[in-house]
Amino acid sequence: MIVRLATQEDLTGIIEIDRLSFANPWDREFLEKMAKTIFLVFGQHELYGFLIAGCRNRNGSASLLKIAVHPEHRRKGIATNLINKLVEMLRDRQIAHLEVIVLETCEPAIWLYKKFGFKVVSTIPQASHNDDLWVMKRELT
Ligand SMILES: CC(C)(COP(=O)(O)OP(=O)(O)OC[C@H]1O[C@@H](n2cnc3c(N)ncnc32)[C@H](O)[C@@H]1OP(=O)(O)O)[C@@H](O)C(=O)NCCC(=O)NCCS
Repeated sequence: MIVRLATQEDLTGIIEIDRLSFANPWDREFLEKMAKTIFLVFGQHELYGFLIAGCRNRNGSASLLKIAVHPEHRRKGIATNLINKLVEMLRDRQIAHLEVIVLETCEPAIWLYKKFGFKVVSTIPQASHNDDLWVMKRELT
């Protein structure tokens, strides 16, 4: 099984994993726009997970915008493989910091990010409900 760059043919599988993973999944049009960023998938014909990240070369930082693994294939190291590939790509581009914003109640994701060495650097309150967003960061050098 491999991590590779997403193609147009992967969109249907990505949309399905997004729908199964989030209450407010992104629509096809928005996901297509994201093809300009770093867009990785895990799997060949059948997809098991995806990752989207934005890269700001000017200030040497990147943001992990979304990661999701098909519910039937979680806890098998798929997200780990996707993040490892992202870190490798960012280091090749001389990117020094990686940031992610996550809802404080999203525990599997927080455990995943902590395992990768991300630390909470600030919190953002939300108008719509009580749960804060956590800004987590990790150095890549
Ligand atoms: C978060 C998510 C991407 C993790 O994907 P995954 O492929 O299951 O993660 P991995 O198997 O690589 O797990 C790596 C580590 O993360 C932590 N982790 C992941 N899921 C966990 C869970 N449910 N409970 C506890 N720890 C968890 C563990 O430390 C795990 O290492 P271990 O299995 O050796 O203990 C997946 O649960 C998911 O798609 N969730 C819904 C979408 C989401 O919340 N995305 C993040 C916000 S953008």
